[in-house]
Amino acid sequence: MEPKVTVMDHPMVMEQLSLVRDKRTNQVAFRKAIYRLGRFMAYEFLRTLDVQEFTVETPLGPAKGGRVKGNDKIVIILVLRAAIPFVEGMYKNFPMARTGVISAWRGEPPDFPIEVNYAKVPQVGPDDVVVIADPMLATGHTLREVAKKVAEKGRPKRMVFFSVIATKQGIDYVSKSFPRAEFYTCAIDPDLNDHGYIVPGLGDAGDRSFGAPH
Ligand code: URA
Repeated sequence: MEPKVTVMDHPMVMEQLSLVRDKRTNQVAFRKAIYRLGRFMAYEFLRTLDVQEFTVETPLGPAKGGRVKGNDKIVIILVLRAAIPFVEGMYKNFPMARTGVISAWRGEPPDFPIEVNYAKVPQVGPDDVVVIADPMLATGHTLREVAKKVAEKGRPKRMVFFSVIATKQGIDYVSKSFPRAEFYTCAIDPDLNDHGYIVPGLGDAGDRSFGAPH
């Protein structure tokens, strides 16, 4: 079964994506652009939720009204640290989201062992839509382990991965373990280098948002 992948290529997304790719973009501008991408992606994603229709009374008579159904069923999983500004943007359109936080450390190639050293995840119900947020879906090793941690908390109605840039290899790797998962991204890049970085990508998303630790 082919993974369900949606590439969000709205012109506003392209503009912010170009900013984060540009090596001249400084830390503050980079973080703001990631924040906007989170906001735009969440806005577009709301199209996939049901709308409850009702009648609204205008001063001149009845009109068709609508509200998003299930916005209170969204559970965001924030993967430290690069997803911090990404998720902050998502809250603009997922204001009622419950949030889990997971820290996962990816080891050296070629095996890229993953150490999950912090996980605070809310209970997940059968009506919930889980959105796992990590700007870079590179090898998929981290996200597969993150999704496993989330799966321990229950089986959601939908499991969705939000990334800014993904690779086909990463998507395939994750979807082998989670065939029902959906992938939303702004771009799919062609390569991974030997260190598991996406090429051309944007570099290290955490370092570019917060500064390199050394
Ligand atoms: N994490 C990043 O920040 N960048 C990549 O290219 C891959 C993983």
